[in-house]
Amino acid sequence: MRIAVVGSGYVGLVAGACFADLGHDVILVDNDERKLADLKDGQVPIHEKFLPELLNRHRGHRLEFSADLQEAVRASAAIFIAVGTPPTDRGDADLSYVESVAREISGAINGYKVIVEKSTVPVYTSDWVRKIILRNGADPEFFDVASNPEFLREGSAVADFLFPDRILVGCDTERASDVLREIYAPLTSGSYYQRAEAIPQPDRSSIPAPILVTTTKSAELIKHASNAFLAMKISFINAVASVCESVGADVSQVCHGIGSDTRIGPRFLNPGIGYGGSCFPKDVMAFRAVARECGYDFRLLDEVMRINEDQRDRFLRKVRSALWTLRGKHLGVLGLAFKGGTDDIRESPAIAIVQALLQEGCKITAYDPAAMDRAQEVITSGIKFANSAYEAAHNADALIILTEWEEFANLDLRRLQQELKYPIVIDGRNLYHPDVMAAYGFTYYSVGRAAAHAEGAPAALKNGASRA
Ligand code: UGA
Repeated sequence: MRIAVVGSGYVGLVAGACFADLGHDVILVDNDERKLADLKDGQVPIHEKFLPELLNRHRGHRLEFSADLQEAVRASAAIFIAVGTPPTDRGDADLSYVESVAREISGAINGYKVIVEKSTVPVYTSDWVRKIILRNGADPEFFDVASNPEFLREGSAVADFLFPDRILVGCDTERASDVLREIYAPLTSGSYYQRAEAIPQPDRSSIPAPILVTTTKSAELIKHASNAFLAMKISFINAVASVCESVGADVSQVCHGIGSDTRIGPRFLNPGIGYGGSCFPKDVMAFRAVARECGYDFRLLDEVMRINEDQRDRFLRKVRSALWTLRGKHLGVLGLAFKGGTDDIRESPAIAIVQALLQEGCKITAYDPAAMDRAQEVITSGIKFANSAYEAAHNADALIILTEWEEFANLDLRRLQQELKYPIVIDGRNLYHPDVMAAYGFTYYSVGRAAAHAEGAPAALKNGASRA
């Protein structure tokens, strides 16, 4: 099928590359000429596993890049809108990019097309897109508007797209759902997975991919409600972690106990420094705003956001109580991205914590495997960037772990201990077992678990530290 994808951000680029891998002819449209030139030139603007391979495989064959939206619409049977929906000052989603794309699409409709919302949008957006297209003169017989939200996570976006838990298709006509079923047929029939060049199947995925067909409004709501629920799960466990710290329980044991109930499940129960990224903070706020507009006061979501903010402050208090005064202290920082596996620093709790520490007068040497270039754009002074975790730790008063990169969970602890001036690690992601850290001679603070002290440390040190 000929498909246009409008917007070459995270969702658009991954969706475009994956549709091409499913065998479709894709035109990826963007109005940023420089970005288009880079993409045509073989550059990959985001750090995403398997994306370079897919772009290489299909660039110039099944995947083309263009600035001409109307031409792409004329050539395509389905048009996926994957443009940005940033938050406004009021917390709701700014849909002006979606609206202007809908307006432009209208003038190019030359036969039946399905216009598909791929960006995360509030319920009723499909109604508006339809109205805008009609207002601008398109024949109602020639198009349908559908919702096909994405559940991909940054860092594993390609695998999430090709091995999804579910494909969600929100349509109000059979004609539109037939088009979307056909697009996803290689995944739902399982034929894609037989191909030799298919990317490897991730753990826990089940194939063939199931497809859920709902109304358009239900699909819009499912997307917002899913992200809000996952954010709630994270805030819930962060709140439980705080209680664990107060009573001396171990949050890892508590998580295991809670998560063993199949109705709850163990995933997304990792406590830390709070959720970040371009989705959860924005989507929880937007869902709150949508509910308010529809007459429901969703106060639970206020609390989810409040706990998330508090989590950063709690971590900063932990750093203070481990190190006493902060002015002039030299800290090694591991992690700047909002989570492991990505170079994205949007709404990164790690960046917020680094900025707060700099403001308190700390000197920071930071290392992140992918996000340092982006971090340099927002943090311009008081920070040095290292080439490895060990270089970041070198001669530091303490090491702070802020992002759950896999490589940070597999450090050579003996070497790390030798690099640090004082063997103190404050881990915002619970990457290590406290007993192991103590055995390697560290004083180790984590989230929702008691502080661990170097075996054989003097009693005075242990007493002081345990107050944290
Ligand atoms: C999230 C959702 O997981 C995707 O399903 C969704 O498609 C996407 O938003 C979107 O709407 O586009 P993403 O933002 O890439 O994906 O990242 P997540 O893996 O969900 O992590 C979000 C934040 O929560 C990160 O800061 C992460 O460190 C934090 N987190 C996650 C925790 O603190 N604890 C956990 O147990 C899980």
